[in-house]
Amino acid sequence: MIAMNANATGMAAAREAPPRLAELLAKQRPDWHSEWAWANYKSTLVDLVRADHLRHLCEIGGGRDPSFTAEEAAELGITLTINDISATELEKAPPGFPTACFDVSGDIAAAGIAPGQFDLMFSRMVFEHVKDVRQAWRNIHTLLAPGGVAVAFFPTLYSLPFLANHLMPEWLSSAIVRAFYPNRGEETDDPKFPAVYDWCFSSEARMLPMLRDCGFSDVAIQPFWGHGYFKRLPVVRQIDDAFNALAARRDWRSMSAYAYVLVRK
Ligand SMILES: C[S@@+](CC[C@H](N)C(=O)[O-])C[C@H]1O[C@@H](n2cnc3c(N)ncnc32)[C@H](O)[C@@H]1O
Repeated sequence: MIAMNANATGMAAAREAPPRLAELLAKQRPDWHSEWAWANYKSTLVDLVRADHLRHLCEIGGGRDPSFTAEEAAELGITLTINDISATELEKAPPGFPTACFDVSGDIAAAGIAPGQFDLMFSRMVFEHVKDVRQAWRNIHTLLAPGGVAVAFFPTLYSLPFLANHLMPEWLSSAIVRAFYPNRGEETDDPKFPAVYDWCFSSEARMLPMLRDCGFSDVAIQPFWGHGYFKRLPVVRQIDDAFNALAARRDWRSMSAYAYVLVRK
């Protein structure tokens, strides 16, 4: 399917077709609960890097807290560019990485970002903040080298906490977060960014046509159910846990809380 242009990137040359993303993901044996998604996000990226010989990486919205240390990047043999829309976030990024300040859904040509330069673009808890996610996926397609892969890990609608956050005015959701999580907020190390949840779904029926329209040849979507927001509410948590287990068994995508979306150019 993909004749690899191995000259421009560090990807393996002598391969007829890369493995399908669903197969790569299945090898991780993902569990239905979102705890698995949080615990295994980084190892999923590392396995992709190794399986596909990806070299030039970009973390979208990596900001102050990128997924890899400089030592880990060196050990993996990768270059990691940290992207963020916010120059303030990038100022707080650890030293030793190139940074690129641009809106992933903005005009990347006007921002002077060279196309086809990355083998892997990935993001964690960023897409829910992006105003035009379809344009973000189009831009990612442009920025990926042929055969390149992108991974997005984001919260999905219509899980209760995210639906509530979506429907509430920002001042109210910020006040609630501050009340329950005093270590969250602008002045702390864990600020709350406004969320819009554009295209934040795990339903394949919804997502596949949009992602194929953006040009991706292979797509895999892994839904996860359950979240940690009811941790301190014993009875509510037990009812929610039981409901999520049922939703996962029945594959009720509209009730998922998070998703991994993997795409290949
Ligand atoms: C909730 S934080 C997540 C940070 C980090 N990825 C993590 O998992 O800890 C969201 C980050 O995405 C950035 N961001 C939001 N919208 C963006 C956009 N359109 N383009 C690039 N970065 C964006 C924010 O500035 C912020 O640094």
